[in-house]
Formats: sequence, structure tokens, C-alpha cells
Amino acid sequence: MRSPRPLVTTPTRHLALSAAPQEANYYGSLTQVGTVSLGLDAEGQEVFVPFSALLPMVAPNDLVFDGWDISSLNLAEAMRRAKVLDWELQEQLWPHMEALRPRPSVYIPEFIAANQSTRADNLIPGSRAQQLEQIRKDIRDFRSSAGLDKVIVLWTANTERFCEVVPGLNDTAENLLRTIELGREVSPSTLFAVASILEGCAFLNGSPQNTLVPGALELACQRRVFVGGDDFKSGQTKVKSVLVDFLISSGLKTMSIVSYNHLGNNDGQNLSAPLQFRSKEVSKSNVVDDMVQSNPVLYMPGEEPDHCVVIKYVPYVGDSKRALDEYTSELMLGGTNTLVLHNTCEDSLLAAPIMLDLALLTELCQRVSFCTDADPEPQTFHPVLSLLSFLFKAPLVPPGSPVINALFRQRSCIENILRACVGLPPQNHMLLEHKMERPGPSLKQVGPLAAARPVSNKKGPVPASTNGCTGDANGHPVEEPQMPTT
Ligand SMILES: NC(=O)c1ccc[n+]([C@@H]2O[C@H](COP(=O)([O-])OP(=O)(O)OC[C@H]3O[C@@H](n4cnc5c(N)ncnc54)[C@H](O)[C@@H]3O)[C@@H](O)[C@H]2O)c1
Repeated sequence: MRSPRPLVTTPTRHLALSAAPQEANYYGSLTQVGTVSLGLDAEGQEVFVPFSALLPMVAPNDLVFDGWDISSLNLAEAMRRAKVLDWELQEQLWPHMEALRPRPSVYIPEFIAANQSTRADNLIPGSRAQQLEQIRKDIRDFRSSAGLDKVIVLWTANTERFCEVVPGLNDTAENLLRTIELGREVSPSTLFAVASILEGCAFLNGSPQNTLVPGALELACQRRVFVGGDDFKSGQTKVKSVLVDFLISSGLKTMSIVSYNHLGNNDGQNLSAPLQFRSKEVSKSNVVDDMVQSNPVLYMPGEEPDHCVVIKYVPYVGDSKRALDEYTSELMLGGTNTLVLHNTCEDSLLAAPIMLDLALLTELCQRVSFCTDADPEPQTFHPVLSLLSFLFKAPLVPPGSPVINALFRQRSCIENILRACVGLPPQNHMLLEHKMERPGPSLKQVGPLAAARPVSNKKGPVPASTNGCTGDANGHPVEEPQMPTT
């Protein structure tokens, strides 16, 4: 099915803030709304372009969607049940969504919360091997009926409980395929991963459980198919991967991180069961490890902050998830600094643009090959696509690779790889051109005072001082500066 074209909606909850009609947009998408600095122009000003303009990328409006769900509701009814979008927007979308029905899926009750059983009315029958074959058939059918070049499969279904990794069961590709053939324990999400890999389609896991067991990873490597995961990095963890990086890189010793959330959507209901919550707790727990380990001046080997995550199901708040976080850090001279955040927003609207970015970046990576000085033979990226780390809470990386959680290091990775693809050097933010005693010839001098006068980033005239002090916020005198004499 074709993705709905952007719609112009009438003002609803934004009415109080703005009278202008709201335009359809892709806010929250790195590729669609994020920008990249290309460098400086002749005036020394930075030039920014959209991420999506750096390299030829698929436009999200050209994506075609299909999918599976254990619930048979058509997408219009599912939209109404989810209560994420304003009513008026739902009415506009209804005719586009009504004809769309999910394909039947695999339901193995023990993997998701018991409270999900009432929605499971759209199921693929048969043995595990037959279910695997049906998923593969669905992928082929989608590819041919929609006339597609590529299919990328994204697991955005319920959080499952963790799967035990057992030698002989799921530790190698061969054992995993035999397990499916014999009908032994395999999770629905792993079945989808195996089906996708066997069909040569990239598979990305947006949920926290260990879908990509060692056998599935080995299969992906054997078939040279990209896989990525785990668990979309959308809200609380995203903030944490910025805030703790900021605290530790500023030299503050963060000692306690306590994160509490409540939500009332179906995800929250599923996570109210202990085994599914455990999967989420694990995926949220390692997110500051790389930042702590980066600073042996602050942290002794093995020392780490206390880190506690609580999730509660509160039906009334629906998809409007509330996240409360407290960060306590040690200061010099025995002080402590406590930061408290309260974040409220529609959980699903943070996740949707991340799903688009995952598909678009994965597709782009499928078209990249490169060689290095040490190895002139062209190669592609490793099947475990760690370039997607920016978008995942618990990034999967190739064996032996460092796991990076710090958000802006993850972003720089994507940005610099894309820059390298068009022959630009890595972005280093030195702006040395602006820090030199003698600006190079590449910088045009603007006016006779340009080199001498500090530039304020404040807009408008400097307000008159009310406290008798003279000078701007940095202590520079506000009277006309003198030209340097030598
Ligand atoms: N901000 C976010 O929304 C966010 C962020 C990070 C991770 N996630 C993860 O993404 C996943 C989906 O979240 P959600 O809020 O959309 O959940 P949801 O419960 O609203 O939707 C999940 C859908 O999957 C269906 N489903 C369950 N088992 C299935 C199966 N075996 N095959 C096919 N469909 C199946 C359910 O019927 C339901 O329609 C969860 O694991 C969640 O933890 C979401």
C-alpha cells in the first residue's frame, strides 16, 4: 500500500498557540528535518543542508507499507483504538486507512503479556516451519504485487520476553533453522528475522528483547543481509544519552540516575507484565556505560552510578507518556547537583519518525561500498549495521566493536560517513578559520573592524545597564573598540 500523502490539517490543539494552519511535516526525523554543516562560505558563515540532500536518499513519501498484526482491525479502527491522533486528523485519515488490513501473524502467548490475548484474532496457523514459510511468502507477495525494488522488515510489535540462548537451540544459524524445523522454542520476532534474512531483506528490531539471537546474527552474516537493533531510542533514553554525556564530559561525577515513567497505551499494558518489563529494563540499563568508562579520572575501574528504571501502566494518560528523571552528580568541595526533568509527550509520535529514518538509512547503506588504504578491495558495511546506533536504545554492534550510546557521537558517525561518501572530510567543529590571529585568504574580511570587534550573539540592541555596570555579558566594553595599533 502507498503511504498517505502529506495532509494539511486544520489547527486543533495548536489553536491556542498559533492561528496558522498546521502543515504536514516529518518533525523528529534525522534524515528529513536534521541538517548537516557543509563548511564555511566565502563570508565565513556556516552553510547547512538537509541530511537528505547530502546523498541520493529515498523520499519517505515514496515508501510503500505493508505489515502483519495478530489483531485483525483495519488500520482506521486501529488508529481509533490507539487514541494517539486528534479526532479531526483521524477523520481526515480514515478513508486512507480503512482499506488497509494487516496480514495474519504468529502468536505464541508465552512471549507477550497475558493481557494481550483478547486482541489475538488474526493468526497464521500451522507448525513453526509452516509459519516461517508463510512469512516468507508474504514478503515475496508484497515485493511483487507492489512492484518494489527492496523490502526492509521492521519489528514494531509488542515487547517479548527474553529468549534464553541455549547451545544447540539458537546459538548457530544451523541450530536455529533446525529448531524452527522441529518446532522447538523460538520467539515470533526471531521467526520474522529469520524469514526476512532468508528473503534477503534487512531486518531491524524496534523492541527491546533479544530477537537477534546468535543464530540469527550468524545467518545474517552468512547471507550478507543487514540487521539492526535493539529498541527504538525515542524519549527518556535519548535524553539520558545526552544529559549524562554532558554531565560527565563537563567533569561532574554523576552518581545516581533514577528514571520513572508511566504510560497508558497498549505498550504500557504489555510492559506491566514482569517478563516483558524485564526486557525493557535491560535495554534501558546500559545506556550510560560508554560515558562512564570514557572518564577514568572520575570513575575507578568497575565504579558506576546507581541506575534505576521504573515503568508503571496508568490507562488514563493513554499514549501521553510521562517520564520523570532525577540525576544526582558530585561537585567539587563536597557539593551535589540534582537535576530533575519531567517530560510529557505522545510516545508513538516520537517513534514514528525513527522508524522512517531506520528504513531510509538502511536502504542507503545497502547502496554504499568503499575501500580503505589497508584494503583496496571494495566492501560493504558489516551485516550488523551499527551505523544505526543513533536510533536504538541498546545498539547492536559487530562482535568486539565498542558500543556507543552518547547521542552526539552517534550522530557524528552518521554525518561523517555520509560526508565521506561525497568526499568531504569529517566534521570536526574546529572552525579554526575563525580562531586564527591572521585569518586565512579563504575568509573574506567584512568591514574594517571585523577582525577586532567581538560579535555578540544577542539579537537587537544591547539594553542599557540598570546596575551601573558597563560592558556586555562577557565583560567587553560596549564603547567603540579601537583598531589594533600594530
Ligand atoms: N516511543 C515508542 O512508541 C517506542 C519506543 C521504543 C520502543 N518501542 C517499542 O516498540 C514496540 C511497539 O510499541 P507500540 O507502542 O507501537 O506498541 P502497541 O502495543 O501499540 O503495538 C504493538 C502491535 O503489535 C501487535 N502484535 C503483537 N504481537 C504481534 C506479533 N507476534 N506479530 C504481529 N503483530 C503483533 C499488537 O497487536 C499491536 O497492534 C514495543 O516493543 C515498544 O516497547 C516503542
